[in-house]
Amino acid sequence: MAKARIAVIGAGLMGHGIAQVFALAGHDVTIYDSVRASLDAARDRILTNLKDLGDNQDAVSRVTPVANLGDAVRDADYVVEAVLEDLPLKQKLFGEIEAHVRPDTILASNTSVIPITAIMQGLKHRGRALGTHWWNPPYLVPLVEVIETEWTSPEAVDVTMRLHADAGKKPAHVKKDVPGFIGNRLQHALWREAIALVEHGICDAETVDSVIKAAFGRRLAVLGPLENADMVGTDLTLAIHKTVLPDIDSRPGPSPYLEKLVAEGKLGFKSGEGFRRWTAGQQAELRSKVLQHLKNARAQD
Ligand SMILES: NC(=O)c1ccc[n+]([C@@H]2O[C@H](COP(=O)([O-])OP(=O)(O)OC[C@H]3O[C@@H](n4cnc5c(N)ncnc54)[C@H](O)[C@@H]3O)[C@@H](O)[C@H]2O)c1
Repeated sequence: MAKARIAVIGAGLMGHGIAQVFALAGHDVTIYDSVRASLDAARDRILTNLKDLGDNQDAVSRVTPVANLGDAVRDADYVVEAVLEDLPLKQKLFGEIEAHVRPDTILASNTSVIPITAIMQGLKHRGRALGTHWWNPPYLVPLVEVIETEWTSPEAVDVTMRLHADAGKKPAHVKKDVPGFIGNRLQHALWREAIALVEHGICDAETVDSVIKAAFGRRLAVLGPLENADMVGTDLTLAIHKTVLPDIDSRPGPSPYLEKLVAEGKLGFKSGEGFRRWTAGQQAELRSKVLQHLKNARAQD
């Protein structure tokens, strides 16, 4: 798609950032939100981000807030939904959207974990429907997972992959609609063992995080696990797995340790304590450190 008409549904944290990326890439973007205050704030949020990142501020002029869903999507070549993580809401919205768009308009959901198949099953033209899982903040994290269902046409996948690559993102094709797609499966496999190490008294939470940040976390941005396995040898990897895997947490459900934290109201930053205690100052410091790290990484891309 050279210059496309893109509709973003939901103007929250992810929606306004996705709109920003497409507008910066030269596309015309309409954005819709059922909450007037979110819609009204979208352009200001985008302008603030563009200024902060030193990106072309003219991009905001290509974003048009629209207060009616039908008007927002009617002329769109591509629609991406980023409303609340609620299956019935997403199903209902896509049903309404389909009534207003051409049969070949691509429809994408930015759900974090809901199966794309469940969201899109009621559509008449399911070949044009897929998932695009962006990461927060959309204008700093490069990955967008492009998730195919059993109905998605190869053409819809191709167009979506190219659209995102041309907008400067790193699209990854997820060929089967599995829970957590690729990124969150990998991330939460690690989190499961991280929690188990604390639960079994092997170390405390701060130590788990320090070990990752001071060791393989340093390499992860440039060396993926399978590249790493090839680098050290698949034979060595096999030998390590024979010893270590039988001892690694493989329980199918969430850890009882995590369930206890939640039951005790230890919800993390929002309650001041989760795996660790957090003052307001420590929370702000960590958030700002992550943001600066992502900005530095983007500058080096
Ligand atoms: N926050 C993340 O890190 C992240 C990352 C990847 C994917 N996601 C997914 O993206 C989606 C949006 O998440 P978010 O973090 O931007 O949430 P958010 O709460 O910041 O934004 C959601 C927006 O949807 C709007 N909305 C609610 N009902 C609506 C409706 N009927 N029509 C139009 N708009 C409606 C809300 O007013 C709000 O502005 C969710 O599915 C979430 O799981 C979030």
